[in-house]
Amino acid sequence: MKRLVLTRPDDWHVHLRDGKIMWDVLPDTAHRFVRAIVMPNLTPPITSVELARMYRERILFSIPRLSRFTPLMTLYLTDNTSVNEVRRAKNTDFIYAFKYYPAGSTTNSDSGVTDLRHIGNVLAEMEKQEIPLLLHGEVVDRNIDIYDREAIFIDRHLCSLIKDYPGLKIVFEHITTKYAADFVWESSDKIASTITAHHLLLNRNDLFSGGIRPHHYCLPILKREEHRVALVKAATSGNRKFFLGTDSAPHYQQNKESACGCAGIYTAHAAIELYAEVFDKAGAIHNLEPFASFNGPDFYGLPRNQDYLTLEKQIWTVPEFFSVGEERVIPFRAGETVAWKIVDNE
Ligand code: NCD
Ligand code: ZN
Repeated sequence: MKRLVLTRPDDWHVHLRDGKIMWDVLPDTAHRFVRAIVMPNLTPPITSVELARMYRERILFSIPRLSRFTPLMTLYLTDNTSVNEVRRAKNTDFIYAFKYYPAGSTTNSDSGVTDLRHIGNVLAEMEKQEIPLLLHGEVVDRNIDIYDREAIFIDRHLCSLIKDYPGLKIVFEHITTKYAADFVWESSDKIASTITAHHLLLNRNDLFSGGIRPHHYCLPILKREEHRVALVKAATSGNRKFFLGTDSAPHYQQNKESACGCAGIYTAHAAIELYAEVFDKAGAIHNLEPFASFNGPDFYGLPRNQDYLTLEKQIWTVPEFFSVGEERVIPFRAGETVAWKIVDNE
């Protein structure tokens, strides 16, 4: 039996939501990860230190007893974010980054930034205060093909952003293309990337295999196989610029299986196990630990975790659904198997 002991990992991009769904999804994340960067795209979004403080308290209140899970909070950038909010965030010990959603790009992004030029002073202050910028890196222009939105974001926005704010730490989140992986690889060490398990495991055919597959719909959308292969190469390379960010994003079944289904895949129930599958298959299981447990804290300037998690190559079956009150969430691989299992979680 193949066994792997690794430093306990962190999740550098997760949607914990709020209210009753949070109670049901949080244990999955808290069971696997010591820390997680918590996305602020609630309704209304978490745009101020005060809102983040209250959201953090609700999370801490929902964490399973005995868990040492620590949420790392983020603030949602809008056209109206002030330089003072950046300073206030810096003065807390619980806000770790600001998140840029282009307005209209994804779930709950309507109050996002309409033009990066509107937040120039804020970005300059973040650079000065050394607070990382997390990017949903897609253009939202309806005339641009959905499969090209990430690449065009790089050309139109990311290049000038890096040039204008050379000291700003940027996480180009949930990258999905070879173009993005190569770009990050060749950029300065101020630029890093998270990669999701689902983008390492699926390509765009999986959206349409035998019929439309709403539970494989997420943003940025799944791309061609050649891109998935490039992401696997980047993630499993050991390169310090790439680290784990699940982008686990639960939605109720009825909102996914609808005439206009929501974007987001729930993977928190099997997160590290799915990454282990990818790394094992790529013959690079030895590089799972830097990707999942070292590169993220190193980039954020935080200590690495001190405790361990043991995984074993052992097949288990994912439940068909889990209940949130009267509602259901369909997890990734529902009714199917995962090849790795957590066996010890001290
Ligand atoms: C996320 C969500 O549901 O909040 N959806 C997704 O497809 N990833 C938003 C996001 O991160 O884009
Ligand atoms: Zn996300």
